[in-house]
Amino acid sequence: MARTMTRRAFCAMTATTFLAACGHNTQEDPTSETATTSDADSNAPEATESEATTESQESASTSKTLVVYYSRADENYADGGKEWLEVGHTKVMAGYIAEALGADQYEIVPVEPYPEGYDDCCDVAMAEQRDDSRPVIANALPDVSAYDLVFIGCPIWWGEEPMIVRTFLEGVDLSGKTVVPFTTHGGSGLGSVPRNVATFAPSADVREGHAVAGTSVDGARDEVVAWAKEYI
Ligand SMILES: Cc1cc2nc3c(=O)[nH]c(=O)nc-3n(C[C@H](O)[C@H](O)[C@H](O)COP(=O)(O)O)c2cc1C
Repeated sequence: MARTMTRRAFCAMTATTFLAACGHNTQEDPTSETATTSDADSNAPEATESEATTESQESASTSKTLVVYYSRADENYADGGKEWLEVGHTKVMAGYIAEALGADQYEIVPVEPYPEGYDDCCDVAMAEQRDDSRPVIANALPDVSAYDLVFIGCPIWWGEEPMIVRTFLEGVDLSGKTVVPFTTHGGSGLGSVPRNVATFAPSADVREGHAVAGTSVDGARDEVVAWAKEYI
């Protein structure tokens, strides 16, 4: 597992590039909308096979494993600088797990997209944490009743999961299921994600999970697959 770093350490490490570039001002008004719930269009979990992407919830595959993730592409932090992502790191990691286990996937999609610019996204993410927001999910929540094992992945934002992950956790019933967090990050490892997932899915059997540095995800397939297979 990649070396972990606390939220405080990450912020200190990136103080000159991250905070300054973000133009952070924790006193300013939040720029994001707070969330309630979504009554968006139906969108069943996507089976790993591409033809299943338009299936209804009723006809979803019989897989017992679901890989849920939030991931953001666009401009991101990378080793003291910036990088442009066509596909988010966590989405790549989610794909490794789903492909290896033949699992279905559900991508958490925000109604209000996060800014493409890293600095602007930092501001929104910080405001959402400060306000304990629940950003609205655009796609219908999956019917998780058929799944025994649920992986849930996200980037680390300010040491934690993006607040929209909490929207998801509060919107589904994961009681009695094995729930396995995973993250990609810029130095914070899993951050407080496993603990927070356990808080927001209190009746689930939440495991410790696995973290991969975002900039290392392209070469991490074998490591991720070996880890994920421990749960089946
Ligand atoms: C708003 C924001 C806040 C971040 N905060 C942290 C952090 O506290 N600790 C950390 O290690 N990485 C942090 N990162 C870096 C991301 O966790 C990392 O780049 C991750 O791999 C991105 O995954 P994604 O492309 O799936 O969204 C932050 C990135 C963003 C955009």
